[in-house]
Amino acid sequence: MVLEQPIGVFDSGVGGLSVLREIRRELPAEDLLYVADSAFAPYGGKPPAVIRARAAAIVRWLDGRGVKLVVVACNTATGVAIDALRAETETPIVAIEPAVKPAALDTRTGVIGVLATAPTLASARFERLVSSYGANVDVLQEPCPGLVEQVEKGDLAGAETRSLVERYVRPLVERGADILVLGCTHYPFLKDAIQAAAGSSVRVIDPAVAVAREVGRRLAALNRLAPPERQGAERFWTSGTPADVRPVIVQLWQREVDVGRLVAD
Ligand code: DGL
Repeated sequence: MVLEQPIGVFDSGVGGLSVLREIRRELPAEDLLYVADSAFAPYGGKPPAVIRARAAAIVRWLDGRGVKLVVVACNTATGVAIDALRAETETPIVAIEPAVKPAALDTRTGVIGVLATAPTLASARFERLVSSYGANVDVLQEPCPGLVEQVEKGDLAGAETRSLVERYVRPLVERGADILVLGCTHYPFLKDAIQAAAGSSVRVIDPAVAVAREVGRRLAALNRLAPPERQGAERFWTSGTPADVRPVIVQLWQREVDVGRLVAD
């Protein structure tokens, strides 16, 4: 019984699918519930109180569906709401956050660039991350207005997307960054455009694989992993209009899927 409870994964929109795909690779036996809070996307630009309220409503909804673990596949929700979420639920939570630590350890130029939303970069949590791990390196911070919207539209490589990416990435490289941290889960879907704008000598880090491994470790420690012989399934939900959101989920997930309407408030 307990072993077949799903893992709940959420983001403001479709970006968290970049985390979901790594969890699927790492844990093929698990059932996964994905929530895209599309009616409220993007979270970047929203006041922290709104983001906190949305994240709390989604975690309550996931708890209502009996998830055994929640993955916050949204750096913005982690930055703004993670402490409140952990205080509100007993369900274990694994949360993504910008990979400042590995980037600071690996940089050879002493300059790293973090691409993330404005609320993530403004959060006290991010400030702590930089002072703990980035004290000896120059941490360039780049909020990237408009990029999340391009991914939500499924425009991963069009002229407008490429020009936005170039506008945000080039100055970081010109200022010496040799590592770029993808601090928003939408951006891995733009990795080709980001790498093209940065050039091949710049490393681009996406922490999703590390998050997926952490999910596996947490479930193993709790003795809650699904039996390895089963084949896990995914279910998708959105607070937006399923007919609008589904085509982009299908594009990014690369499979036909059903998308349900979620009402969480
Ligand atoms: N994908 C999210 C993140 O990782 C949120 C982006 C947004 O909605 O602005 O930060």
